[in-house]
Amino acid sequence: MKKIIGARHEFHDSRYAQDWAVRFDPTPERLQLFDLIISQLQSRSLPVRHILELGIGPGYLASRLLDAITNVTYEGIDFSQPMLDLAAVRLRNFGDRVRFTQAHLVEDYWERSMSRPVGAILSTWALHDLGSEASISAVYRKCKFILSPQAILLNGDFIKPEGATFKYEPGRFPVKRHIEILSDLEFHEVECLGVFELELENPTPAQNYACFKAVR
Ligand SMILES: C[S@@+](CC[C@H](N)C(=O)[O-])C[C@H]1O[C@@H](n2cnc3c(N)ncnc32)[C@H](O)[C@@H]1O
Repeated sequence: MKKIIGARHEFHDSRYAQDWAVRFDPTPERLQLFDLIISQLQSRSLPVRHILELGIGPGYLASRLLDAITNVTYEGIDFSQPMLDLAAVRLRNFGDRVRFTQAHLVEDYWERSMSRPVGAILSTWALHDLGSEASISAVYRKCKFILSPQAILLNGDFIKPEGATFKYEPGRFPVKRHIEILSDLEFHEVECLGVFELELENPTPAQNYACFKAVR
């Protein structure tokens, strides 16, 4: 039987979270994804200079972004306290530009407790962990609710690539389904900005990810 492309995680375990952060110190390819997200933000005028990241993990994107864009504040959401602790250490030099919220992206009502309007919502390598199209769609819906008009959603996440020969875990699905879900939610300017580390023949769980853009 062919393997299923996916991964099991123990993000609530401190040792696991620390090991994950070491294993996934950003590669040049992942830095390209981060820089694509940062360049999207730099190329438009955000309606509010406050950014939210879903599944912030160890804070790699946040750290690069806050260095590159100095006039924004940032809020990282994650359900893992060990990950939030790692992010807090990594981002300590940014002081009160950064805050953290511990919440489950699907089960908790984080979208109702945000303290201010949001100009951009970002996420990388996180939403597929919600495990289904329905859960990712529910989070996209929450994003629509919380974003200010003209604010942007940028999600860089694992997909099932076109022409895949393997089965993929349910949270990894084709680009065109992401586009359909975002379009059905009446986001504007919905597009896939690029696919990274495309590998059909012998993929690892850390390959085949795409960056989606949608504007409120
Ligand atoms: C694979 S890591 C990616 C971390 C980071 N975004 C990056 O690209 O380096 C996924 C992150 O999403 C968080 N996460 C997964 N499922 C979640 C959920 N249901 N609610 C909140 N956070 C979740 C995990 O704790 C973890 O920090």
